[in-house]
Amino acid sequence: MTRHAVRGRLVWFTDDPATAGAEAVRDIADGAVVIEGAVIRAVGPAAEVLTPDIAVAHYPEALILPGLIDTHIHYAQTRVIGSYGAQLLDWLTRYTFPAERRFADPAHCASVARFFLAELFRNGTTAAVVYPTVHGHSVDALCGAAEAQGMRLIAGKIMMDDGPEGLRDTAESGYRESKALIERWHGRGRIGYAVTPRFAVTSSRAQLEAAGALLAEHPGCWLQTHLSENRAEIQTVAERFPEARDYLDVYDRAGLLGPRSLFGHCIHLSAAERQRLSETGSVAVFCPTSNLFIGSGLFDLRTMRDAACPVRVALATDVGGGTSYSLIRTAAEGYKVLQLQGQSWPALEAFYAMTLGNARALGLEAEIGTLQGGAHADLVVLEPGATPALAHRLEAIDDDTLDERLFALMTMGDDRAVAATYVAGRQVHTRTG
Ligand code: GUN
Ligand code: ZN
Repeated sequence: MTRHAVRGRLVWFTDDPATAGAEAVRDIADGAVVIEGAVIRAVGPAAEVLTPDIAVAHYPEALILPGLIDTHIHYAQTRVIGSYGAQLLDWLTRYTFPAERRFADPAHCASVARFFLAELFRNGTTAAVVYPTVHGHSVDALCGAAEAQGMRLIAGKIMMDDGPEGLRDTAESGYRESKALIERWHGRGRIGYAVTPRFAVTSSRAQLEAAGALLAEHPGCWLQTHLSENRAEIQTVAERFPEARDYLDVYDRAGLLGPRSLFGHCIHLSAAERQRLSETGSVAVFCPTSNLFIGSGLFDLRTMRDAACPVRVALATDVGGGTSYSLIRTAAEGYKVLQLQGQSWPALEAFYAMTLGNARALGLEAEIGTLQGGAHADLVVLEPGATPALAHRLEAIDDDTLDERLFALMTMGDDRAVAATYVAGRQVHTRTG
């Protein structure tokens, strides 16, 4: 099989810098990633790993990182992003549900899926965990498009038997259709399935139990839903499920917690809820641009890291509640969310979160989020001097202070900093202009 390589400054993580410190960071000033087929064959200093027979794409000024990973994003909300003036439940009713009804049309699904993947690649995102809609064919359109790109993608039909008119399934049909989709997609190429009850506001107890049954029958699948994003949402859930101790307990009773379970938002958690997330190895997904934009609240990372009760955390855009497809912008807003609470987030930790941290949250660290040999060749090429203001800022920072350079890039960068994106060894985006 022919080999090719990408050359530049390589940066990746072997562990979490929050706990392992500088040891966790790999930084090779003039390095190369040698790619064979879809996989990384070798990585190291360019002088050591390149041979004359290997075609090289050289990015002398750029940082080359593992492709960024988005752990919570809605592909049916590409025309909802940036909708004015509502908090969660109103925002869903006014903007999101009408947009999702259009996915009854398979042709619409296919055209939005194409736009969506191209937009991810433009932003350096090479793997994603995605919410389609209640329509089974919305999963087929997205997974088919991702499979054609060789992309790692996890998705699942939204289950919402108590949803609004036109977007409802039933406990029985949601189960049956999800099962058929699992059989069709889970483990096909790089596609994985996430059982996806939208949240406890739009699913009945019977439906949540059906979701639990699907997980028990297919333990390799993931689970994704929303949890404790907004006060009115929490109140509604308490009224719908008076038997439950708290919001998380509604999911717990249905068997939905575990190390492959992703809970979007997790802003207003009680100590008991954090305890259960911790005990079960469930993942809390931090969606900063969404939480600011919809006015939901501030994610408390410090408490999630409490050594006595640590909760696994992932980072995500949550487009269209989120306001940017860029994980770099998302991290910048995450930093501000933490600043507002007297907490901090060094750039090395934020870039770890976008790459290996999110890969670990999905249990996929052997495949994505790393430049280690044997991993899939999903890469992002970041040009720190992408804009005049960023280039000007970086002139004031030494090359050898990686943390400061990454921090400036994170604070001021966006899709303009993404010079190229590779998925499974193939270049899927090249910045023009
Ligand atoms: N809770 C239930 N559905 C949604 C959604 O689509 N977006 C957000 N941000 N929260 C939700
Ligand atoms: Zn969401």
